[in-house]
Amino acid sequence: MTQELTSPSPAPQAPGSGRGPGWWRDAVIYQVYVRSFADSDGDGIGDLRGVRERLPHLKDLGVDAVWLTPFYASPQADGGYDVADYRAVDPLFGTLQDADDLLRTAHDLGLRVIVDIVPNHTSDRHPWFTDPELARQRYLFRPGKGENGELPPNDWESIFGGPAWTRTDRGDWYLHLFAPQQPDLNWENPEVHAEFEAILRFWLDLGVDGFRVDVAHGMIKAPGLPDIGHGAQAQLIGSQVLPFFDQDGVHAIHRAWRRLLDGYGDGSGRQVIGVAEAWAPTPERLALYVRPDELHQAFNFQFLNAPWQADALRTVIEASLAATASVGAPTTWVLSNHDVVRHTTRLGGSLARARAASLLMLALPGSAYLYQGEELGLPEVTDLPDEVRQDPAFFRGGRATGAAGPGTDTEAAPDGVAAASGQDGFRDGCRVPLPWSGEAPPYGFGPGGSWLPQPADWAPLTVAAQTGDPASTLELYRAALELRRRLPGLGDGPMSWAPAPDGVLAFTRPGVLCTVNTLGHDVELPAPGTPLLSSAPVTVQDSAARLPGDSCTWWAI
Ligand code: NOJ
Repeated sequence: MTQELTSPSPAPQAPGSGRGPGWWRDAVIYQVYVRSFADSDGDGIGDLRGVRERLPHLKDLGVDAVWLTPFYASPQADGGYDVADYRAVDPLFGTLQDADDLLRTAHDLGLRVIVDIVPNHTSDRHPWFTDPELARQRYLFRPGKGENGELPPNDWESIFGGPAWTRTDRGDWYLHLFAPQQPDLNWENPEVHAEFEAILRFWLDLGVDGFRVDVAHGMIKAPGLPDIGHGAQAQLIGSQVLPFFDQDGVHAIHRAWRRLLDGYGDGSGRQVIGVAEAWAPTPERLALYVRPDELHQAFNFQFLNAPWQADALRTVIEASLAATASVGAPTTWVLSNHDVVRHTTRLGGSLARARAASLLMLALPGSAYLYQGEELGLPEVTDLPDEVRQDPAFFRGGRATGAAGPGTDTEAAPDGVAAASGQDGFRDGCRVPLPWSGEAPPYGFGPGGSWLPQPADWAPLTVAAQTGDPASTLELYRAALELRRRLPGLGDGPMSWAPAPDGVLAFTRPGVLCTVNTLGHDVELPAPGTPLLSSAPVTVQDSAARLPGDSCTWWAI
């Protein structure tokens, strides 16, 4: 490592609105799925240089921070969530120098950078796993059941389908809650704790501004690894505590990590954060991950799962706000990510609803996560041929469904596997490389092709095509983020519900009122103020406002 790499680039002092203590409390954080964002070298796979070259797009969009999905050395059995070396950049994505350059450029632009950390499991090519002696201590090996140990040690199922155990040629079995190439670590071993703390320090020393903690609810398993007793376990995740998820013991790890993160507050205003990717059965249990001495944020998948119905949305918003308020944490909001069906498709294949849902999310108190491409209104790609598929769940027949909520086509599945969707419930359809410019694939994604084929009709959706068009989804997002920065009432802070007809939500933030018409037709109501921004043309005449169906409007009051 060069000397340059050891001196972290300073994080921006006051990105975002700068309101209140804690930049993350109202930050808009943009998820970059590195493999699909921008390709600099023509191999058809996005990379760190590609991200760096396109950072000005994110600056113009108006986000506060960027979350980069794993770019570490990995055999790519699960899109990089199978890490073989946590301190190295995979040659597919570049070099450590590229990571350092990206951090510096982002900080120069006033953008913070969060990276993914994957502590529940490693790759089966990690040197700890390839060494049989080390592996026995640092992973979860058990003897099999049955006369000759030929049966798995318990009845746990992999999230990606099939048993959660694989037998080695030595005859014992190891646990993998995900793919067999992702063995679960043994967090009862203090060496595992020490190693992960050292990895966090490595990236913090390079200058990152925080971590998105993968499977933050999974590291600790119930003592004795008890059977669950019935099948379809993946369907239970997020609705009850399971012996492998949301065990109370995980909180001690998060407390230790918080102490480590706080140690990087260096008096210069640097505040580094931890974000839990955690599936918990209730908002109250999720709030435990963001107690003052634990992580800073947790993804609010309950909101993502809510159907497009006023009552259901109101219920989930109230529950989320109450749960996080009880521990003094900000709420986060998210509609799309690399594991679920894009919300344009999920909300009934309606761009109008997707735009309205996005404006609703950006008007709520707290922090919001955007997934690359949602600012373009990209739909899920639903016609990918089998031969281009990469999602390991596709090949293992994993979980691909959840009960469909009314008003949605689907429900997002817990931790990592997309729900029943436009195509068949797997995750490649939301990971198709971004269209930047031009009339035909790869639409400026890079000088070569793209690792998943892009639809032939995406020319009107490119960043270039939408820029400057006031009716475009890109300009809607830009305007919303600009208003969020300009209006002190948005972001973190109070919110109250206002009276509204059935099917409509109305709530106030200081100086702003937000209406959401979830019905498929226009609704008329007394104009609550002057329209600031709307996801669809709103008309005001003689003090009456006509809200188009499936629309959201921000009003100055
Ligand atoms: C959650 C990640 O978002 C997903 O992509 C991954 O497959 C699983 N965790 C396992 O690491």
